[in-house]
Amino acid sequence: MMTNTVNQLSEPHHPRPQWRTRMGFILAALGSAVGLGNIWRFSYLCYKNGGGAFLIPYAIALFVVGIPLMILELGLGHKMRGSTPLCFAKVDRHWEWAGWWAVNCAMFGIMVYYAVIIAWCVSYVFFSFNLSWGADPNDFFFNQYLQVSASPGNIGDIRTPILFSLSAVWFLSWMIVFFGVQKGVERANKIFMPLLFVLILILVAWSVSLKGAAIGIEKYLKPDFSLLSKPQIWIDAFSQIFFTLSLGFGIMMTYASYLPRKTSIIKDALMITVGNCLFSFISGFAVFGVLGYMSFTTGLPVEEVVKESIGLAFVTYPKAISLMPGFANIFGVLFFVTLVIAGLSSAISLVEAFASAVIDKFHYPRRVIVSVVCAAGFFGSMVFSTKAGIYWVDIVDHFITHYGLVAIGIIECLLVGWVLKSEKLRDHINHVTQKSLTPAWDVCVRFVTPTVLGILLINDLGKEIAQPYGGYSWMAIVLIGRDWLLAALIVSLFVAARHWKRDLEVVEVIKK
Ligand code: ALA
Repeated sequence: MMTNTVNQLSEPHHPRPQWRTRMGFILAALGSAVGLGNIWRFSYLCYKNGGGAFLIPYAIALFVVGIPLMILELGLGHKMRGSTPLCFAKVDRHWEWAGWWAVNCAMFGIMVYYAVIIAWCVSYVFFSFNLSWGADPNDFFFNQYLQVSASPGNIGDIRTPILFSLSAVWFLSWMIVFFGVQKGVERANKIFMPLLFVLILILVAWSVSLKGAAIGIEKYLKPDFSLLSKPQIWIDAFSQIFFTLSLGFGIMMTYASYLPRKTSIIKDALMITVGNCLFSFISGFAVFGVLGYMSFTTGLPVEEVVKESIGLAFVTYPKAISLMPGFANIFGVLFFVTLVIAGLSSAISLVEAFASAVIDKFHYPRRVIVSVVCAAGFFGSMVFSTKAGIYWVDIVDHFITHYGLVAIGIIECLLVGWVLKSEKLRDHINHVTQKSLTPAWDVCVRFVTPTVLGILLINDLGKEIAQPYGGYSWMAIVLIGRDWLLAALIVSLFVAARHWKRDLEVVEVIKK
């Protein structure tokens, strides 16, 4: 009854876009999940945390947080038929700010630096043709391409080669989202995703056939259990699950709101989560195969072949490519094109989640919103294209994923588990889906997931206070990391306080 009233009030003015097909939705959601996080971020975290040992907390995080939260986000988006702030407001108007915080963190926290990493990949597609990095890819990446300054405070100029690629990335993201859900996002993912699967399979096959690949793969698959006693490996694995599954970004709720009434939320949630993590696991063979090859050719142990793990994709691959006897540049082009495609399919979802929220609240035309948001995002990305850009990427990424996304995850659990009552959402999911979700999910959402996330968050904060992240100065950590999160929060509170242009009535109806 309540839902019908909502739709009667909101839909005549504001027909919600809808996916053309279920497959279109799954590919778009997978496209959002599978991104740089699966290749660049997963492999550097796995390498940093001792290879195989990382896979254990990663798998646990998938079951404790990934799957329950994916069902929650898809279910809530589908029930409330709205972008994240609208969904939160429909549960309780007082929590709308948290929905804005999610989409603000995604758009002006993650997307602004994410676009820059895709831009690095675009540059590297071109560098691959003549192996521009020469004999020392580490020096090329940090000193010649990024021209990294001495500290995060020494911003220096904007690097023109990065700016050039960045414009292309923002232009493409703008163009795809501009054309809307069916003609833009769905159509692009129908091309991107199959291409991505083919490309990654070629890369894996190629990498594992390299001499010495087995040394790297052994490191990848053989866990050193003693590493599991370190809290950092758990913190990294859980925050990676948020990042890689695009949870806490406000994307999955938005995408689910474009689904038809009858749908299969549980099956889709399983396909997206398991499919995404399998993709990461498979692409790990490509990276560790290459690390093994490097270890074999340089004589160094696998754990010593790369110094700066954040630059792994931009140092390891080029290095391995240089060592290859034939077709080296084709391999390079293939690897970086794969990264660009993976990145773009996620980038469009980051823009879409934010644009959809603004459209829901203020009812501005999509094309105007998308254009303004992309222009603002492009300017926001500039600081990450400066000589201190990589430090800023590292600090903002750390704060958004470790604190922002985890905090939003906890809020989602509390909001659905206790304010809305999880059985209400479970009933809805069971009503529209053929499979039935058991009360075990309620236990997860109300107790297990928020408790585990709370413990991690407190642990992480404790570590941060004891020693600032990454050896940066306190000033950098506070002014860049903490303030980035705070700024997103303040803007969210401000936007949440504004009136809904039309859906305010909807929220009032819900409250009655
Ligand atoms: N989920 C996206 C990724 O992994 C953001 O890159």
